[in-house]
Amino acid sequence: MEMLGLYPVFYVPNIGTAWLMGLTGVMHVLFSHTSVGASILFAFLAYKAYHEDRPELYYYMKKYGIFLLVFSYVMGSITGPGIWYTATVASPRGISSLIHNFVWVWATEWVFFIYEVVGVFALVYFMDKIDRKTHLKLTYTFAIASVGTLALIVGIISFMMWPGNDAYYNTGSVSDAFFGINTFPHMFLRIGFMVMMSGIIGMVISSAMKKENPALGVEMTQKMGIISMIGGFITMLFFMWYILALPENAHALMGKLLPGIIMNRIILTVLFSVYFAIAIFRPKWINKSLASVMVLVILIFGLWPGEKLRESLRKPYIAGHYMYSNQIIGRDVPGKGIKNEVPLLAAKGYLKLDPWVPTRLRTITPENKLEVGRMLAIRACSNCHSLEKDGLYRPIVVSIRIANLKDAESIKGYMKNVIGTGSIPYMPKIALPDNEYDAIATYLDVQANK
Ligand code: HEC
Repeated sequence: MEMLGLYPVFYVPNIGTAWLMGLTGVMHVLFSHTSVGASILFAFLAYKAYHEDRPELYYYMKKYGIFLLVFSYVMGSITGPGIWYTATVASPRGISSLIHNFVWVWATEWVFFIYEVVGVFALVYFMDKIDRKTHLKLTYTFAIASVGTLALIVGIISFMMWPGNDAYYNTGSVSDAFFGINTFPHMFLRIGFMVMMSGIIGMVISSAMKKENPALGVEMTQKMGIISMIGGFITMLFFMWYILALPENAHALMGKLLPGIIMNRIILTVLFSVYFAIAIFRPKWINKSLASVMVLVILIFGLWPGEKLRESLRKPYIAGHYMYSNQIIGRDVPGKGIKNEVPLLAAKGYLKLDPWVPTRLRTITPENKLEVGRMLAIRACSNCHSLEKDGLYRPIVVSIRIANLKDAESIKGYMKNVIGTGSIPYMPKIALPDNEYDAIATYLDVQANK
C-alpha cells in the first residue's frame, strides 16, 4: 500500500506545538547566548587581568563563572535536550530534514560543546591554581569553542529560513545548504545579542558585589554598561541587514508584522539605551533587583517576539524551502532524492496516505464527518493555527473571520481555490480530494460560525 512517511501528530490545544517549541527555545536562547557572550567577555577580562596585572578581575570572573555554571550550563543543558524532545514531537519531519542535511555539522558542534562545558569548569576551578598565562590561553580556547558552537548552529537554523544557495537542490551538499544569504547576518545579529546579554547578566553579578567590594562593583557595572551598549548596537545593525536578507515568501507576512516589530524594537532600544547609560554614568543606581528585572524584560519583550518573528517569517516552510510546516514535502530536491508529495496528496488524500489515520476514520460517513474533519484540520492546519475558539496561537477561528468565510461552502471554496492552489505565500499548498476539503470545512464552520 502506498503511504507517505508521516508521523503521528502531537497536538497541544490552544497554544499548539509551535508555542511549546517557542517557550523551550526562548529559554534556551537566553542561557546559551549568555554563555557564548560570556566566553567572549571572559577572554577580554582575562586579557586585561593578565596584561594590566589586575587580580581583582579574576575575583569578578570567578563570581560570574559560578553564576554561569548554574544559570547557563545547568539550565542550558536541560533546555537544550528539551528542544530536541519538543522538536521531535512538534515537527518530526522538520527535525529529520535538518539531521539528514547536517549530521556531521551537528557532530562537530557537539565536540565544540563538550569542550565548552569542560572549559567553563576548568576556567573557574583552575583560576587561582594555574599560572595566569596558561589560564589566559584556556580562556581563549573556551571562547573559540563557544563561538564555534554558535556559528555551526546558526548555519543549521538559517537553513530553516533560507536554504543555502540554489545549487543545493541539485547537489544536496552540506556547504551549499549551510552558506545561505541569511546565514551571516543571522550569525552576527546573534553575536551582538550575546555580547549584550553577557553585559546584562554581568550587571546582575556586579550589582550584587556592593557589600564585599564596592569599588570593583561600580567599575564592573560601568564596563558591563559599555559592553552591553556595543553589543546592542551590533544587534541593531545586523538586524537591519537580516531583514533585508529574507526570502521572497517572508515579504508578505513581513508587511503585516513589520509595524508591530519596529515599534517593539524602538521601545526596547530606548529603554535599554537609558539603562546602559545609567550603568555607565550612574553605576550606583543599578541594584540587584533592577538588574534582574531587566533580564526578565529582555526575555519577555526582546527574545520572545524576536524568535517568534523568525518562526513566522519562514512560513510556510519549516526547513530548506521544501519541508512545509505541516510536514508535507512541497518540492523536489533531486540532490537528496526527495520527491514533492503535494500532487500525490491532492490525488489520494490523507485518508489513504497517512499511516496514522485510524481505520474507522478512513471512510467518511455522516456520523464521523466532524471527527474526520477535526483530525484532518489537525494534520493540515494545526501546525500554524490553534483550532480552539479561544486559542492563542494564530486561532483559525479568527483567520476564518478575517477572510470573511461565513459558511462551510465558502470555507471549502477558500481551501480549494486559495490554499489548494498555493496562492498565499505564507501558507503551504494544501491540495486535497474534494471529500477531505468537505470534512475540514464542515468542522471549521462549526468551530468558527456556529
Ligand atoms: C505553514 C503555516 C500555515 C498552515 C499549515 C496553514 N496556515 Fe492559514 N495562515 C498562516 C499564516 C501565517 C496566516 C496569516 C495570519 C496573520 O495574518 O497573522 C494564515 C491565515 C489564514 C487565513 C486568513 C486569511 C489570510 O490570508 O490571512 C485563513 C482563512 C487560513 N489561514 C486558513 C487555513 C486553513 C483552513 C489551513 C489548513 C487547511 C491553514 N490555514 C494552514 C499559516 C498557515
